[in-house]
Amino acid sequence: MLVSGREILQAARQGGYAVGAFNLNNMEIVQAIIEAAEEERSPVIIQASQGAIKYAGIEYIAGLAKIAAERVSVPVALNLDHGTSFSQVVQCIRNGFTAVMIDGSQLPFEENIAVVQKVVEVAHPNNVSVEAELGKIGGVEDDIVVSERDAAFTDPDEAAEFVERTQCDALAVAIGTAHGLYKGEPKLDFDRLREIRRKTDVPLVLHGASGVPDEAIAVARQYVSKINIDTELRVAFAKAIADFLKEHPNEIDPRKILGPAKAAMKDVVRAKMRLFGSAGKA
Ligand code: G3H
Ligand code: ZN
Repeated sequence: MLVSGREILQAARQGGYAVGAFNLNNMEIVQAIIEAAEEERSPVIIQASQGAIKYAGIEYIAGLAKIAAERVSVPVALNLDHGTSFSQVVQCIRNGFTAVMIDGSQLPFEENIAVVQKVVEVAHPNNVSVEAELGKIGGVEDDIVVSERDAAFTDPDEAAEFVERTQCDALAVAIGTAHGLYKGEPKLDFDRLREIRRKTDVPLVLHGASGVPDEAIAVARQYVSKINIDTELRVAFAKAIADFLKEHPNEIDPRKILGPAKAAMKDVVRAKMRLFGSAGKA
């Protein structure tokens, strides 16, 4: 059942668990995510990145997600991930997305606030929730000096002001995670996360969660309500296809080649739902 992102985020915040947001790119990924959600009785967020929109187009993505959501009884939200502009947000809302992220994190503080306010103005009357980002996630290198590292992280006082002024429904925070594969083990700044939690009253979002150890996720999920996973799905997809073709080098049927990839992604999604605490909550 397709529902507003707000409904899923608020239930997670009140219930003290986090909901997984998984990136889709094609039908098999959507099926893997939705089947996992139904089997785990878990709410779920499926989301389209800029790359996915370029690859598949907003209409195909919306169509796939709506059909998938209608087939299950668990709550499903369709989110725009790292939205880049007001016009893209509007296009997604017109196509039935139930949540949008507007990523103004590269902008100066006041400009970030202004673009989020503009998006909130158009999203809320349509019952579409808005995620914003403060601080810089990603590109955090192991050898970066501490002062630079800290400067990129979300400031708790700024977060409080940002949420108050924008009225956003969710806030993505920078506390040490990064997108893609980690070279070493990521070190998350939990003191900062607790401080942001204490100073704001909005569901928090952890991006770049692929490769973050389970123990760290178990701590983070006490404070965040949405956890984004993309890279681990890609890894499972690619490995399953490589393994299958190694064993069956003459296979040419796409359904046979993609079947194991779908199964592998589904396993990843199910495990994350249990880890995040959303399994059994729908
Ligand atoms: O917005 C998407 C996520 O933050 C995914 O991050 O690829 O490191 O799992 P990831
Ligand atoms: Zn992200």
